[in-house]
Amino acid sequence: MPAPVYTRSRAYRAAARTHLPFGVSSTPRGRQTPVPVVIEEARGVHLTDLDGNRYIDFTLGYGPLLLGHTPDCVQAAVTREMARGLRTATVHRGEAALADLLAECVPSAEQTAFVTTGTEAVQLALRIARAATGRLKIAKFRANYHGWIDNLHIAGAPGHDGPDTIGQDPAASADIVLFDWGDTAQLAALDGSFAAVILEPAAINPGCFAPPPGFLEAVRVITREHGIVLVFDEVITGFRLGLGGAQQRYGVLPDLTVLGKVLGGGLPIGAVAGRRDIMHDVATGRLLHRGTFNGNPLSLAAGFAAVSHLRAHAATLYPRLDAMAGALCAHVNAQAARTGVAACAQPVGSAVQLFAGTRGLNGIGDLAQVDRAATSRLTDALLQRGIYALPRGLMYLGAPHDEADMATTRQALSEALETLRTPPVRQGP
Ligand SMILES: Cc1ncc(COP(=O)(O)O)c(C=O)c1O
Repeated sequence: MPAPVYTRSRAYRAAARTHLPFGVSSTPRGRQTPVPVVIEEARGVHLTDLDGNRYIDFTLGYGPLLLGHTPDCVQAAVTREMARGLRTATVHRGEAALADLLAECVPSAEQTAFVTTGTEAVQLALRIARAATGRLKIAKFRANYHGWIDNLHIAGAPGHDGPDTIGQDPAASADIVLFDWGDTAQLAALDGSFAAVILEPAAINPGCFAPPPGFLEAVRVITREHGIVLVFDEVITGFRLGLGGAQQRYGVLPDLTVLGKVLGGGLPIGAVAGRRDIMHDVATGRLLHRGTFNGNPLSLAAGFAAVSHLRAHAATLYPRLDAMAGALCAHVNAQAARTGVAACAQPVGSAVQLFAGTRGLNGIGDLAQVDRAATSRLTDALLQRGIYALPRGLMYLGAPHDEADMATTRQALSEALETLRTPPVRQGP
């Protein structure tokens, strides 16, 4: 197979940086190597770039596109909605329709408030928790990601508890107390001074870790004991680990659930769903819930169509995707064992994390073993073989992935793992 050429993507990036900082609209997208490929067209889970290279997509919009890039149900719903006019920032029937549907699908969702992104939904959840408890302190777990706002955009990498980027106000996280995800013993430090505990119930961002046995149950017991609002950030796990998300899969119900990504059917959305009594201040209008684009008709129509489709197909779709993810990981682990390459893969539901530098992690505490540079070389090698994964080694599976796609992906993974045997080429000074 000839090596792909990225001439046009390179030229685009060079020109784009003139007026578009870093040449992209979200920094991680600009970190794809050898160059961020410019995607011209997407159908199902297949992408074509500006140079005509084709890829099987496992980024799926960084998670939302569980039904792929061109689901019929979403296209039809958005087209219908457009024909009625944008109606941005009006009161429209799509709002209550999606809130009603969520109450049927997500076990703890008695009421839902909509915003435009997952980041905003997290902030609204914290505000609701503080209003409901009259307290300020928030417990956050290291390496869990909850969006890019200063207060919670901290402690993203192992061994680093501070702000995740320059330009943040360190004072914004003064009321945030850090814990280690999965460590049940540390939960004893929670007491009646905390407004909320927020966590990824399955830690997808740190590297696809399922909760250790008893961990979520322990968080539930101790938060209930001290009247602390338990917030599950299900921006990724919502509608990905099953129709009812992680809370249904693991059988532990939070007080508030943050949703985003898949909920919007591919269009921008965020939501806080939760217990009626905790949502009380939003329901009375005492707590200000603002945003011009909140509940915009196109996103809500796309979300309603996507969630309805998922509900209709949940019994077959989720087991199929989970089995495909498990098989992909088994292939990587068998290849790594057979060839002696230090690499491994682990799934949670239909999310898969590739790691280089280690033959397996016992838990989130082993993350320091991971060779991040080698993991990114692995995804580079995949890109060159037509497999588009997140540069940090995360791969999302979606409904349109079929056996032919998976066979191609297994072959590409085998070859990409082989490339890890060759020492990296040193870049110039
Ligand atoms: C768990 C989690 N929470 C919140 C967010 C923020 O969502 P958004 O990017 O829509 O602002 C993300 C984004 O990846 C996420 O993974």
